[in-house]
Amino acid sequence: MKHLNHVDFLYYPKLDYIKNFISNIKNINILEFGVMHGRSTKMFLEVCDNMDGTLTSIDINDHSDLFKNERWKFIKSRDDNFELMDQIKNKSFDVIYIDSLHEPNHIKKILYFYYDFLKLNGRIFIDDINWLPYVKNSFKDNEYSELINRKTFSKIIEIYYANLENIQLEFNFNGTGNANILKLKDKKLNEAKKIENRLFGLRNIIRNILLIKRKPKM
Ligand SMILES: C[S@@+](CC[C@H](N)C(=O)[O-])C[C@H]1O[C@@H](n2cnc3c(N)ncnc32)[C@H](O)[C@@H]1O
Repeated sequence: MKHLNHVDFLYYPKLDYIKNFISNIKNINILEFGVMHGRSTKMFLEVCDNMDGTLTSIDINDHSDLFKNERWKFIKSRDDNFELMDQIKNKSFDVIYIDSLHEPNHIKKILYFYYDFLKLNGRIFIDDINWLPYVKNSFKDNEYSELINRKTFSKIIEIYYANLENIQLEFNFNGTGNANILKLKDKKLNEAKKIENRLFGLRNIIRNILLIKRKPKM
Protein backbone atom coordinates (compact mmCIF):
# COMPACT_ATOMS: atom_id res chain seq x y z
CA MET A 1 0.00 0.00 0.00
CA LYS A 2 1.15 3.54 -0.83
CA HIS A 3 2.59 5.30 2.24
CA LEU A 4 0.22 8.09 3.29
CA ASN A 5 1.45 11.25 4.99
CA HIS A 6 -0.56 12.82 7.83
CA VAL A 7 -2.92 14.89 5.67
CA ASP A 8 -3.42 12.13 3.07
CA PHE A 9 -4.26 9.70 5.87
CA LEU A 10 -6.97 12.00 7.19
CA TYR A 11 -8.68 12.72 3.87
CA TYR A 12 -8.07 10.23 1.11
CA PRO A 13 -9.13 6.85 2.56
CA LYS A 14 -12.47 8.35 3.63
CA LEU A 15 -12.99 9.93 0.20
CA ASP A 16 -12.06 6.61 -1.45
CA TYR A 17 -14.67 4.96 0.76
CA ILE A 18 -17.35 7.29 -0.68
CA LYS A 19 -16.08 6.90 -4.24
CA ASN A 20 -16.49 3.12 -4.02
CA PHE A 21 -20.22 3.54 -3.43
CA ILE A 22 -20.91 6.09 -6.15
CA SER A 23 -18.50 5.59 -9.05
CA ASN A 24 -20.90 3.42 -11.11
CA ILE A 25 -23.98 5.65 -11.03
CA LYS A 26 -24.84 6.84 -14.56
CA ASN A 27 -25.79 10.55 -14.89
CA ILE A 28 -25.07 10.94 -11.19
CA ASN A 29 -26.41 14.12 -9.58
CA ILE A 30 -24.50 15.22 -6.45
CA LEU A 31 -25.14 17.95 -3.88
CA GLU A 32 -22.17 18.96 -1.71
CA PHE A 33 -22.01 21.21 1.37
CA GLY A 34 -18.53 22.52 2.25
CA VAL A 35 -15.81 23.05 -0.37
CA MET A 36 -12.82 24.81 1.26
CA HIS A 37 -9.72 23.14 -0.30
CA GLY A 38 -11.87 21.23 -2.77
CA ARG A 39 -10.61 17.74 -1.89
CA SER A 40 -14.08 16.19 -1.90
CA THR A 41 -15.18 18.45 -4.80
CA LYS A 42 -12.28 17.15 -6.92
CA MET A 43 -13.25 13.53 -6.18
CA PHE A 44 -16.93 14.19 -6.99
CA LEU A 45 -15.99 15.96 -10.26
CA GLU A 46 -13.89 12.95 -11.29
CA VAL A 47 -16.95 10.74 -10.79
CA CYS A 48 -19.14 13.22 -12.75
CA ASP A 49 -16.63 13.31 -15.62
CA ASN A 50 -16.64 9.50 -15.82
CA MET A 51 -20.39 9.03 -15.43
CA ASP A 52 -21.78 12.05 -17.30
CA GLY A 53 -22.97 13.59 -14.05
CA THR A 54 -23.43 16.97 -12.37
CA LEU A 55 -22.24 18.40 -9.07
CA THR A 56 -23.66 21.38 -7.16
CA SER A 57 -21.47 22.64 -4.29
CA ILE A 58 -22.48 25.10 -1.57
CA ASP A 59 -20.18 27.11 0.70
CA ILE A 60 -20.51 30.37 2.65
CA ASN A 61 -17.16 31.41 1.19
CA ASP A 62 -16.56 31.93 -2.51
CA HIS A 63 -14.65 28.94 -3.88
CA SER A 64 -15.97 29.31 -7.42
CA ASP A 65 -12.43 29.69 -8.83
CA LEU A 66 -11.24 26.30 -7.64
CA PHE A 67 -12.37 24.32 -10.68
CA LYS A 68 -13.34 25.04 -14.27
CA ASN A 69 -15.77 22.32 -15.23
CA GLU A 70 -19.13 22.64 -17.01
CA ARG A 71 -20.47 19.81 -14.84
CA TRP A 72 -19.95 21.94 -11.74
CA LYS A 73 -22.20 24.63 -10.28
CA PHE A 74 -20.97 26.55 -7.24
CA ILE A 75 -23.44 28.47 -5.06
CA LYS A 76 -22.14 30.88 -2.41
CA SER A 77 -24.65 30.50 0.41
CA ARG A 78 -25.26 29.22 3.89
CA ASP A 79 -26.41 25.60 3.72
CA ASP A 80 -29.50 26.41 5.81
CA ASN A 81 -30.63 29.14 3.44
CA PHE A 82 -33.11 26.71 1.92
CA GLU A 83 -34.05 29.17 -0.82
CA LEU A 84 -30.80 28.18 -2.50
CA MET A 85 -32.78 25.25 -3.93
CA ASP A 86 -34.42 27.75 -6.31
CA GLN A 87 -31.04 28.00 -8.08
CA ILE A 88 -30.81 24.26 -8.73
CA LYS A 89 -32.64 22.81 -11.76
CA ASN A 90 -32.44 19.08 -11.07
CA LYS A 91 -33.46 18.73 -7.42
CA SER A 92 -33.35 14.96 -7.31
CA PHE A 93 -29.98 13.77 -5.97
CA ASP A 94 -28.17 10.42 -5.98
CA VAL A 95 -25.65 11.64 -3.40
CA ILE A 96 -25.65 14.38 -0.75
CA TYR A 97 -22.41 15.17 1.08
CA ILE A 98 -22.47 17.17 4.33
CA ASP A 99 -19.10 18.68 5.31
CA SER A 100 -19.95 22.28 6.25
CA LEU A 101 -20.67 23.37 9.83
CA HIS A 102 -19.73 20.50 12.14
CA GLU A 103 -22.32 20.91 14.87
CA PRO A 104 -24.75 18.03 15.59
CA ASN A 105 -28.01 20.00 15.62
CA HIS A 106 -27.03 21.92 12.51
CA ILE A 107 -26.12 18.69 10.72
CA LYS A 108 -29.48 17.25 11.75
CA LYS A 109 -31.32 20.30 10.36
CA ILE A 110 -29.48 20.02 7.02
CA LEU A 111 -29.98 16.25 6.86
CA TYR A 112 -33.74 16.42 7.50
CA PHE A 113 -34.36 19.18 4.96
CA TYR A 114 -32.31 17.78 2.06
CA TYR A 115 -33.22 14.13 2.70
CA ASP A 116 -36.50 14.80 0.89
CA PHE A 117 -34.51 15.63 -2.27
CA LEU A 118 -32.55 12.35 -2.11
CA LYS A 119 -33.60 9.64 -4.59
CA LEU A 120 -34.71 6.24 -3.36
CA ASN A 121 -31.50 4.17 -2.91
CA GLY A 122 -29.53 7.42 -2.82
CA ARG A 123 -26.92 8.05 -0.13
CA ILE A 124 -26.09 10.85 2.27
CA PHE A 125 -22.52 10.98 3.55
CA ILE A 126 -21.74 13.01 6.68
CA ASP A 127 -18.12 13.93 7.27
CA ASP A 128 -16.27 13.84 10.61
CA ILE A 129 -17.85 11.29 12.91
CA ASN A 130 -14.64 9.68 14.24
CA TRP A 131 -13.34 11.15 17.49
CA LEU A 132 -10.29 8.87 17.89
CA PRO A 133 -7.81 11.23 16.15
CA TYR A 134 -8.82 13.93 18.68
CA VAL A 135 -8.73 12.12 22.05
CA LYS A 136 -6.11 13.02 24.63
CA ASN A 137 -2.58 12.17 23.40
CA SER A 138 -3.84 11.09 19.97
CA PHE A 139 -2.24 12.61 16.87
CA LYS A 140 -4.74 15.50 16.52
CA ASP A 141 -5.44 15.91 20.28
CA ASN A 142 -8.29 18.46 20.41
CA GLU A 143 -11.00 18.53 23.08
CA TYR A 144 -13.57 20.48 21.04
CA SER A 145 -13.30 18.22 17.99
CA GLU A 146 -13.35 15.07 20.13
CA LEU A 147 -16.60 16.12 21.81
CA ILE A 148 -18.29 17.44 18.67
CA ASN A 149 -17.51 14.26 16.70
CA ARG A 150 -18.74 12.07 19.57
CA LYS A 151 -21.96 14.12 19.68
CA THR A 152 -22.41 13.99 15.91
CA PHE A 153 -22.00 10.21 16.02
CA SER A 154 -24.61 9.92 18.80
CA LYS A 155 -27.03 12.21 16.97
CA ILE A 156 -26.80 10.10 13.81
CA ILE A 157 -27.44 6.95 15.87
CA GLU A 158 -30.54 8.61 17.39
CA ILE A 159 -31.84 9.43 13.89
CA TYR A 160 -31.17 5.84 12.80
CA TYR A 161 -32.89 4.41 15.90
CA ALA A 162 -36.08 6.24 14.91
CA ASN A 163 -35.79 5.14 11.26
CA LEU A 164 -34.65 1.50 11.34
CA GLU A 165 -36.92 0.57 8.44
CA ASN A 166 -36.37 3.75 6.43
CA ILE A 167 -32.60 3.92 6.19
CA GLN A 168 -29.50 1.78 6.36
CA LEU A 169 -26.51 3.17 8.24
CA GLU A 170 -22.77 2.48 8.12
CA PHE A 171 -19.83 4.25 9.68
CA ASN A 172 -16.38 4.45 8.16
CA PHE A 173 -13.63 5.20 10.70
CA ASN A 174 -10.81 5.95 8.27
CA GLY A 175 -9.15 9.28 9.11
CA THR A 176 -11.78 11.50 10.72
CA GLY A 177 -14.48 9.22 9.34
CA ASN A 178 -17.86 9.55 7.71
CA ALA A 179 -21.41 8.25 8.07
CA ASN A 180 -23.10 6.59 5.12
CA ILE A 181 -26.91 6.69 5.05
CA LEU A 182 -28.83 4.74 2.41
CA LYS A 183 -32.44 5.76 1.69
CA LEU A 184 -34.60 2.63 1.65
CA LYS A 185 -38.08 4.15 1.53
CA ASP A 186 -39.63 7.14 -0.20
CA LYS A 187 -40.96 8.76 2.96
CA LYS A 188 -39.96 11.50 5.36
CA LEU A 189 -37.54 10.75 8.18
CA ASN A 190 -39.08 10.25 11.63
CA GLU A 191 -37.90 12.55 14.41
CA ALA A 192 -34.73 11.28 16.15
CA LYS A 193 -35.32 9.19 19.27
CA LYS A 194 -33.26 9.34 22.44
CA ILE A 195 -31.56 6.03 23.19
CA GLU A 196 -31.76 4.83 26.79
CA ASN A 197 -28.32 3.87 28.04
CA ARG A 198 -27.97 1.34 30.89
CA LEU A 199 -24.20 1.86 31.05
CA PHE A 200 -24.54 4.64 33.62
CA GLY A 201 -27.62 3.12 35.33
CA LEU A 202 -27.52 2.38 39.05
CA ARG A 203 -27.67 -1.39 38.48
CA ASN A 204 -24.62 -1.36 36.23
CA ILE A 205 -22.68 0.91 38.57
CA ILE A 206 -23.38 -1.51 41.47
CA ARG A 207 -22.44 -4.47 39.22
CA ASN A 208 -19.11 -2.81 38.39
CA ILE A 209 -18.37 -2.05 42.07
CA LEU A 210 -19.08 -5.69 43.00
CA LEU A 211 -16.81 -6.88 40.16
CA ILE A 212 -13.95 -4.68 41.40
CA LYS A 213 -14.41 -6.05 44.94
CA ARG A 214 -14.41 -9.63 43.66
CA LYS A 215 -11.25 -9.20 41.57
CA PRO A 216 -8.57 -11.60 42.87
CA LYS A 217 -5.55 -9.80 44.36
CA MET A 218 -2.33 -10.44 42.43
C1 LIG B 1 -14.22 21.12 6.42
S1 LIG B 1 -14.39 22.35 5.21
C2 LIG B 1 -14.85 21.45 3.77
C3 LIG B 1 -13.75 20.57 3.26
C4 LIG B 1 -14.00 20.01 1.87
N1 LIG B 1 -15.19 19.18 1.82
C5 LIG B 1 -12.79 19.23 1.39
O1 LIG B 1 -12.87 17.98 1.29
O2 LIG B 1 -11.76 19.87 1.13
C6 LIG B 1 -15.85 23.16 5.70
C7 LIG B 1 -16.35 24.22 4.73
O3 LIG B 1 -17.72 24.49 5.08
C8 LIG B 1 -17.97 25.87 4.95
N2 LIG B 1 -19.08 26.20 5.84
C9 LIG B 1 -19.08 26.29 7.20
N3 LIG B 1 -20.30 26.54 7.66
C10 LIG B 1 -21.13 26.60 6.58
C11 LIG B 1 -22.52 26.81 6.41
N4 LIG B 1 -23.33 27.00 7.45
N5 LIG B 1 -23.03 26.79 5.15
C12 LIG B 1 -22.22 26.58 4.10
N6 LIG B 1 -20.88 26.37 4.19
C13 LIG B 1 -20.35 26.38 5.42
C14 LIG B 1 -16.65 26.56 5.30
O4 LIG B 1 -16.59 27.80 4.66
C15 LIG B 1 -15.61 25.55 4.77
O5 LIG B 1 -15.19 25.90 3.48
